[in-house]
Amino acid sequence: MDSIIVTGGVPLSGTITISGAKNAALPLMTCGLLTDERLTLSNVARLADLRTMSDLLAQHGIDVTPTSEDGRTLAIGGAITNTQAPYDIVSKMRASVLVLGPLLARCREARVSLPGGCGIGTRPVDLHLKGLEAMGAVIELDAGYINATAPAGLHGANIVFPFVSVGATENLLMAASLADGVTILKNAAREPEISDLVLCLTAMGAKIEGIGTDTLTIEGQKSLHGASHAILPDRIETGTYACAAAITGGKVFLENARTEDLESVISALREAGILVTPGENGFWVERRNQLRGIDVMTEPYPGFPTDMQAQFMALMAIAEGASMVTETIFENRFMHVPELNRMGARINAHGASAIIRGVSKLSGAQVMATDLRASVSLVLAGLAATGETTISRVYHLDRGYESVEQKLAGCGARIERVN
Ligand code: UD1
Repeated sequence: MDSIIVTGGVPLSGTITISGAKNAALPLMTCGLLTDERLTLSNVARLADLRTMSDLLAQHGIDVTPTSEDGRTLAIGGAITNTQAPYDIVSKMRASVLVLGPLLARCREARVSLPGGCGIGTRPVDLHLKGLEAMGAVIELDAGYINATAPAGLHGANIVFPFVSVGATENLLMAASLADGVTILKNAAREPEISDLVLCLTAMGAKIEGIGTDTLTIEGQKSLHGASHAILPDRIETGTYACAAAITGGKVFLENARTEDLESVISALREAGILVTPGENGFWVERRNQLRGIDVMTEPYPGFPTDMQAQFMALMAIAEGASMVTETIFENRFMHVPELNRMGARINAHGASAIIRGVSKLSGAQVMATDLRASVSLVLAGLAATGETTISRVYHLDRGYESVEQKLAGCGARIERVN
């Protein structure tokens, strides 16, 4: 199994190019199930999770073929030959459940393994299922699988989410695009990845109103057609490298990054004393002075993203004064705390909040990655620590960060992967 070794202490300097968003690419790839025609996606990051999604689509009969030399443009097409999503793939990646809505809308049946819990929480899919039931699906849970049928097809429905769910909004958006009649999704997620999905569905012939708001109105169509869509830049990768520049006291240009998708993170960075300056096709992040401890609370978009919580906590570990990080989206997302503490951080987590008392330095240690964002927070801590940090279980990182060592090494970081 691979590990990453970071020798800290180098202020990062240079340019990091931001890849296409993983969390947009996953639902966008499943849009390939909504039509037999070709869907072309560009700006696709080369990530383990997207290869898992390709494997899943392949076993449904949908081919995913790279059409550009760099592998960042994918042609997705073919007829659905199988409506079952097996346990071995779904258990690897929870986002596999996003095939449920499209399969049901297209084929009137789907059998999808129930995703289990994961490192950060129980993560049920009840909102996905209730929404599909409201649209006419009959759902039974059997032997760890979701058996869904819609003998008369899906119909439009008025669905009010009791709380915001990114995945449920995506699944129902895709299903509603091919349902009979109008679906209204209220209290829908407003994440930029949802808007990207709306743009792609619209290019495929869907009729959707309310993009970027919490109410989406979808007028179902008889069929959708092929289209081409460029995936938006990854805002979480952007925020992560912004924290890397900040934690090392460096200056980095984040190329292809969009400030507008990251306002809550940028305002937190500024409050902590970091300079963020827009440039052409990206922005600069620089730290000249001591970091200030500040409080953040995770919330659905446009609030502070839960996927940036671990990275921000690593940053606050070396800030002046205390800070408080409150996690409101997932119930168990502080797995990085004991690992950061092993590196000399002074973090005390209690319930949904963690108090971070800033220390003047972190020191390298052997640490273990527990999930995607926790892993990268340990890389960030390692970049700022004295001595060597070895991060094991790096496969978590590869799920969501493309060429993390190369991107950081390109700015001077001493980082290598070892087997
Ligand atoms: C997506 C992101 C993930 C991010 C999360 C929150 C992808 C592939 N993943 O995950 O990186 O951390 O949004 O921004 O885009 N919930 C239920 N029942 C449901 C659905 C969700 O109780 O049916 C709960 C979850 O357990 C969680 C909360 O709602 O506590 C939010 O989850 P959700 O927004 O659905 O996250 P995902 O779509 O799984």
